[in-house]
Amino acid sequence: MRKALMAGNWKMNKTWAETVVLAQHISNQSTEQWSDLDVVLCPAMPNIKAAYSVLEFDHAPIAVGAQNVHWEESGAYTGEASVGMLAELGAKYCIVGHSERREYFAETDEAVNKKAKALIAGGLIPIICVGESLGIRDDGSFIDYVCAQVRAALAGLEGSNVAKSVIAYEPIWAIGTGRTATPEQAQEVCAAIRATVAEMFDTETAEAIRVLYGGSMKPENVAGLMEKPDIDGGLIGGAALEAESFVYLVNACLD
Ligand code: PGA
Repeated sequence: MRKALMAGNWKMNKTWAETVVLAQHISNQSTEQWSDLDVVLCPAMPNIKAAYSVLEFDHAPIAVGAQNVHWEESGAYTGEASVGMLAELGAKYCIVGHSERREYFAETDEAVNKKAKALIAGGLIPIICVGESLGIRDDGSFIDYVCAQVRAALAGLEGSNVAKSVIAYEPIWAIGTGRTATPEQAQEVCAAIRATVAEMFDTETAEAIRVLYGGSMKPENVAGLMEKPDIDGGLIGGAALEAESFVYLVNACLD
């Protein structure tokens, strides 16, 4: 059985002080049962250590992740941070290929692949985001489009590393819009992602990799999504910015 994973993508929200407060509120409401799943907070880059320190002090069953990384170890890459730097701040996970990074920062499939490789080499777990725009959804080619993103992101990786990685299916039309994919729509694509991993590697790898849904996941829709066999958790934006809703979403994954 795959362990569920709930990750909060805080994006460019929360100051250092607000990060401490939110991480503390979430930590206070966490229970021992949370160890049955993986719970991850991904604050803005300068606040990773702040969140990590709060959670570590509390021995909370909550990990910390970053939202971006550069694939080189060091060098003249102004504004970037390496895998080793993130690890030093306490990050165990890192989101790559989020649609906002693809759209606003020209992150390509090739860059996503390099980032995933660098993260794995450095011992961090990549959360690789894929997902189609509304235009691609409407023209019906979304399965091909998303599976091509998966193929590009995982190219050249070893199955044993892919098995430990995470893919997040995030239809762009559902991100921050309040318009969630139906559980059936999300399941259809998450199953196709898993089938792609099976084709590229093997069934064992496909059965092990966690596939998340992201895009307006909230207390009202989490149960329906989590019931689906190929949805192993969520990548949560807006609802991760309040302790109450994020804690609700995590608890919804426990039986
Ligand atoms: P949302 O964001 O939950 O606010 O739609 C999800 C994401 O972008 O990861």
